[in-house]
Amino acid sequence: MAPASPAPGQARSILILNGPNLNMLGTRQPEIYGAETLQDLMAAAGRRATELGLLSEARQSNHEGDLVTWIQQARKEFDGIIINPGALTHTSVAILDALTLAEKPVIEIHLSNIHQREEFRHHSYVSKIAKGVLAGFGGHGYVMAVEAMARILKK
Ligand code: DQA
Repeated sequence: MAPASPAPGQARSILILNGPNLNMLGTRQPEIYGAETLQDLMAAAGRRATELGLLSEARQSNHEGDLVTWIQQARKEFDGIIINPGALTHTSVAILDALTLAEKPVIEIHLSNIHQREEFRHHSYVSKIAKGVLAGFGGHGYVMAVEAMARILKK
């Protein structure tokens, strides 16, 4: 069995980013986004990362510029990026550009299946750079994204 905690200096690290309004999970349209809070979801994703020998850090911001800055920093500080950009998915060339210059594997995740929703949610700028996209699995999608990233980083 692989050790639950990675040996110091050897661990790969992932940054899990969440965009606008995702801090409101739990109260925000639970029929679409579920009843769990972002804290619950990040705790579950963090636990799975630890089990898989990855270091992880989760951040959320309602501001596009914060996300851009964190992605720029991730170029040096993390090995992979999991991102739910919220509504910025559909509008932000700045986030796409930052992810492109980060030169790290990116997994895009959405709680809802954006393709079953309004037309304006069908297009994602981030998908242009993402290695893979998870949408419609609710909060469990974050755990799935961590598992997928662990496989990518092992290669
Ligand atoms: C979302 C889908 C987006 O269209 C929406 O703006 C969000 C959440 C999701 O996780 O399903 O804020 O990214």
